[in-house]
Amino acid sequence: MSAGLSVRGLSAGYNGLVVVREASLDVAPGEVVTMLGPNGAGKTTTLLSIVGALRPMAGSITFDGEDITKKGTDAISRLGLVLVPDSRGIFFDLTVKEHFRLAVAKGDKDGLDAILDRFSALRPLLNRRAGLLSGGEQQMLALGKALVMKPKVLMIDEMSLGLAPLIVQSLMPIIRQAAEEDGMGVLLVEQHIEMALRFADRGVVLNRGEIRFEGPASELLANRDEVEASYLART
Ligand SMILES: Nc1ncnc2c1ncn2[C@@H]1O[C@H](COP(=O)(O)OP(=O)(O)OP(=O)(O)O)[C@@H](O)[C@H]1O
Ligand SMILES: [Mg+2]
Repeated sequence: MSAGLSVRGLSAGYNGLVVVREASLDVAPGEVVTMLGPNGAGKTTTLLSIVGALRPMAGSITFDGEDITKKGTDAISRLGLVLVPDSRGIFFDLTVKEHFRLAVAKGDKDGLDAILDRFSALRPLLNRRAGLLSGGEQQMLALGKALVMKPKVLMIDEMSLGLAPLIVQSLMPIIRQAAEEDGMGVLLVEQHIEMALRFADRGVVLNRGEIRFEGPASELLANRDEVEASYLART
């Protein structure tokens, strides 16, 4: 069986209402895939189903050859499939150091120094409460905390939410570095089409719960007009 994440025919939703319909996608080790799509397309629902926070209605999810469709969130994160949620999963009353301590308990102690080298702006802030950090610093903490867990595949929901483009552009290379050096696969949900496609290897476009496009990021970028038009598709 193949390494990485493989989603086949995933349908998911809430209270019996289907909002993601037969979606299939793959993330190979070291590969950066971006998932694009308008508000309400079903991007977050897809991620929540993959990590076991929402029970899929149909389909299968395989991770490193293992069927994880019915596993719970803790078991899935222990296997190395980690989600940075759009809420960033940060506790405002805990300090930066305390966040890392919690994450290190699940991961690799030696890795912490390496992570702080990558997010050097967090070093002087180790004793600050997370609620007092700027939006960009909070996102660095969310990413750093996830990377300490040495994920095999990292999924990030709307990394750029509320952040200045310059800050997002400074975070992208850190993710790329982890993909290249550690062979980490990345599934990045983004609203900014062009920025995401310039960064990713491959893209999938979701609208109204269905995958409308997928292909190499360069191809989607070259057909940007069609990609944008698919955002407006009603069927
Ligand atoms: N807890 C919930 N209960 C009922 N419906 C929900 C729930 N969460 C999301 N939905 C609905 O499911 C659909 C898909 O939502 P989802 O959050 O997956 O979209 P999204 O692509 O992540 O959008 P955005 O870009 O705004 O984050 C939407 O119509 C939304 O209203
Ligand atoms: Mg969302």
